[in-house]
Amino acid sequence: MGGIVVFGAGGRAGRAVTAEALGRGHEVTGVVRDPARYADLAAEGVSVVRGDVTEIGSVRELAGGAVGAVHAVSPFSGPEQGFDSLDPGFFVKAADALLEGLASAGVPRLVAVGLFADLLGADGRPVMDDPSAFPPPIRPFALAHTAGLRRLREAGEDTAVDWVMLTPGGGLEQDAPRTGRQRLGDERMPEGAPGLSYADLAVAVLDEIETPTRHRTRVSVFVPRGVRRA
Ligand SMILES: NC(=O)c1ccc[n+]([C@@H]2O[C@H](COP(=O)([O-])OP(=O)(O)OC[C@H]3O[C@@H](n4cnc5c(N)ncnc54)[C@H](OP(=O)(O)O)[C@@H]3O)[C@@H](O)[C@H]2O)c1
Repeated sequence: MGGIVVFGAGGRAGRAVTAEALGRGHEVTGVVRDPARYADLAAEGVSVVRGDVTEIGSVRELAGGAVGAVHAVSPFSGPEQGFDSLDPGFFVKAADALLEGLASAGVPRLVAVGLFADLLGADGRPVMDDPSAFPPPIRPFALAHTAGLRRLREAGEDTAVDWVMLTPGGGLEQDAPRTGRQRLGDERMPEGAPGLSYADLAVAVLDEIETPTRHRTRVSVFVPRGVRRA
């Protein structure tokens, strides 16, 4: 089976995607900024390499030969971190580097993880515009994410990279189980869906690498209401 390169392999989504990929028999290259911090991933059989998702050269060099790439990078891990260090152009730079770097490395598929803030609410507006649904203090991060999605869309059919953004349709839960009952939706926030486990997000990510069903678009990932957790 072909290799998969995971940008942000040391993060919560990246670890879940890496575990799912290893479990399916893929070779995984895990891109992190400081490999010394991720000896545990190397011990699991991941080829842990230093890289930066915002640098074209880094993407091109590290992704060569892979059948798919995953963008699970985030420059912001929670409100306690604050926004002083947040680059509003981070996700745009990542989109540019990934589209160009993967295309020149011949990697056909990119699955990026999105943020529920820019899914559309019942009134057709982005969730982040409803202060009762999305905390206003985190809006700068949501806007940065949205700019990255816009950049991917702007590439249209001009890019050789068949990308898809999978966006959790609600909160992501780190310790919740893998149910495999997740579904893909559309651009709207799924109504009443419970939180999604990182593990189920990872199932959707790997499914879309192995058998792509959505192309150059963004869709939600969710477990339908009423589906019992394993
Ligand atoms: N409900 C939702 O919609 C929801 C909830 C949570 C997260 N998310 C989204 O899911 C994605 C992943 O989030 P997460 O929770 O997994 O975040 P996380 O646990 O904070 O992990 C993010 C990882 O990004 C890496 N990183 C940061 N800058 C980098 C760079 N320039 N190049 C390469 N790697 C870099 C960091 O790795 P190092 O420190 O090792 O370099 C870190 O391990 C993000 O897009 C996030 O916004 C969505």
